[in-house]
Amino acid sequence: MLDMIAPSLAALPPVTSDSLLALIALAKADPRTDKIDVGVGVYRDAGGATPIPRSVKAAEKLLWERQETKAYLGGRGDVRFGELLRPFVLGRHSGDERIDQLQTPGGCGALRLGFQLIKLANPKARVLLGDPTWPNHPPMALGVGLELSNYPYYDRDNRRIRFDEMISALSAGRPGDVALLHGCCHNPTGADLSDGQWAEVTRIVVERRLLPFVDLAYQGLGRGMAEDAAGLHGLLDVCDEVIVAQSCDKNFGSYRDRVGALFVKTGGRDATATAMAHVLQMAREMWSMPPDHGGAVVRTVLENAALKADWLVEVGEMRGRINEVRATIAGADPRLAFIGEQFGMFSMLPLTKAQVVALRETHAIYMADSGRFNIVGMSDEALPRFIAAVVETLDG
Ligand SMILES: Cc1ncc(COP(=O)(O)O)c(C=O)c1O
Repeated sequence: MLDMIAPSLAALPPVTSDSLLALIALAKADPRTDKIDVGVGVYRDAGGATPIPRSVKAAEKLLWERQETKAYLGGRGDVRFGELLRPFVLGRHSGDERIDQLQTPGGCGALRLGFQLIKLANPKARVLLGDPTWPNHPPMALGVGLELSNYPYYDRDNRRIRFDEMISALSAGRPGDVALLHGCCHNPTGADLSDGQWAEVTRIVVERRLLPFVDLAYQGLGRGMAEDAAGLHGLLDVCDEVIVAQSCDKNFGSYRDRVGALFVKTGGRDATATAMAHVLQMAREMWSMPPDHGGAVVRTVLENAALKADWLVEVGEMRGRINEVRATIAGADPRLAFIGEQFGMFSMLPLTKAQVVALRETHAIYMADSGRFNIVGMSDEALPRFIAAVVETLDG
């Protein structure tokens, strides 16, 4: 008698939910009108809104007037978009013909594709990830079957980068292992490597023959457009092989449009062409072609001198606000002073999980259990209440 019981979708095990997504749902369901959600990672202006940048709106209008077809673009997406991004992402290496790129659905698409390329080239490669890192990094690397290994990154209690331990862990990497590095605005800690630390990491990467994979999701929101890619540019100076996952979703305020790019550098033009052919094949298997709109908007901004200049002003305004709010929080209490020395949209408060829960229950302030919060997650009006609640919680 044949076994007639077929495998069933109903047999799937439950998924351990993404705690940040669960937090967003919890905040949404809270009826208190003065609630503050600093869990979600989108930029908010002084009024608490996440606006579409002027330059992006203007480009969308131009696009609407000029776009004549929505015929397929091909697997690389908007080719001009990638070319116009090169000066920002690659800086002085922008003319290097050993580097090629393609448009991806956001930085996530680029990360996933990059991991998949690594898996194909070197199935035994381990991905060396900072502890902590962005929670979506490990599942993406694991998802393609790569092995993970942590390197210490941030000492939450002493609010500093565990640099010596990071260097020892990277020094124990095997040739071909991947060093995943945040280009700038480290998520979740806000603690970025100094120029000297980047130089040291670069030296170890070369010495141990590691493959640097740089996640550049917040360029322009830390110290400046060029400054935020300086570590990457230093790696490109000396490494024959570098992978970059870039996102335009934050610096163009285009989160839901899913705009990003994967850059691949190898030791020679032919090897890059071969790698890109594989990348295109793998992209074809996953999403075939990236969605066009966001890339076309970024291209429209960057090919128009006035819009590009205005966009750079707008990135400067976002950066200015992030750094101002940082300074305000840092100045409120000596225990928060470290926040003024960090960069980007995130920082980790020295709170226990119980204190994070208390902030939620008593003050309707929502942040990740780790104490990670979005520096610009609230309006200027809500900021004093946020600071007062955090200080009160720290006082116990
Ligand atoms: C560190 C880091 N990398 C990559 C991404 C992915 O960005 P995108 O929304 O473009 O996929 C994010 C988004 O939050 C991020 O924080």
